[in-house]
Amino acid sequence: MIGALPTAASLYERVRRVIPPIEWPAFADDIDAILALKRERNAVILAHNYQTPEIFHCVADIVGDSLALARKAMTVEADVIVVAGVHFMAETAKLLNPGKTVLIPDLAAGCSLADSITAEDVRLMRQRYPGVPVITYVNTSAAVKAESDICCTSGNALAVVKSLNAPRVIMLPDEYLARNIAAQTKVEIIAWKGRCEVHERFTAADIRELRGAHPGVTVLAHPECPPEVVAKADFAGSTAAMSDYVGRHKPARVVLMTECSMSDNVAVEHPDVDFVRPCNLCPHMKRITLRNIRSAIEENRHIVTIDPRVAERARWAVERMLFV
Ligand code: 13P
Ligand code: SF4
Repeated sequence: MIGALPTAASLYERVRRVIPPIEWPAFADDIDAILALKRERNAVILAHNYQTPEIFHCVADIVGDSLALARKAMTVEADVIVVAGVHFMAETAKLLNPGKTVLIPDLAAGCSLADSITAEDVRLMRQRYPGVPVITYVNTSAAVKAESDICCTSGNALAVVKSLNAPRVIMLPDEYLARNIAAQTKVEIIAWKGRCEVHERFTAADIRELRGAHPGVTVLAHPECPPEVVAKADFAGSTAAMSDYVGRHKPARVVLMTECSMSDNVAVEHPDVDFVRPCNLCPHMKRITLRNIRSAIEENRHIVTIDPRVAERARWAVERMLFV
């Protein structure tokens, strides 16, 4: 038997600490419509940790970091997967569950890392370093993934490097992720010059100022941050690892050196933790809204497609990382 749908009014309780009552009426109608549409079209919503709380906590079915979203996309049984995240995440879901209709509410939701490298660049790197295995971050196009030996995310990058048992690897395209991983292994890592436009803006001086202004604050950083930021943080890990850290350690006061919505989403689960919030917005993640999620399901758009010749090779690289 199909149970009663929750209503926007009942969901507000969950997010009242991070969404002021004055903003809620602007969301309520879309939330009710999306909940009904998901049932009508047998659709599920996958939302990344950087989505705003009214998406993350009120309409998403599956939430997490890039690695968790990839794993869970593979086992979705619903007919339609709506990705509340950026384009490479939607492509990854399509690669891993090709029989489903995968929708992205805004095709312009890109990523500065994915834009920093092309398939041709990867081929040139292979020519320059013959025989050296190529690891590509999932924050890349399917065409770039197709040129690589294996993918990685920020959650499994070190394990992926170790799994190759090679003295030298190429890790593309995030220079800072590559350097942060290189600091934890003897394997030589050849990097590319890609940067996350959100995380590259954090500085070691920011951490010094934060520690001065909030004595005792725990600082967590994403590994896309510059190495000098990671070195000064108390912990560095993927978005899911940062969220788990807060749950396990319950710091009295914490700052997440990452995208702004992370703190809101984690704060909902941990009312006893004080979140200091200097953060940087990801303009690509912020292209996804309740309004365009609603239109995506109503109008069945934008359907994610991948050239089958590219998809076959890209799928191999993504699936391989899931077995590490
Ligand atoms: P995670 O895999 O840690 O969720 O990171 C994805 C991302 O785009 C970070 O900027
Ligand atoms: Fe890309 Fe950075 Fe935005 Fe993540 S936060 S989607 S890496 S631009």
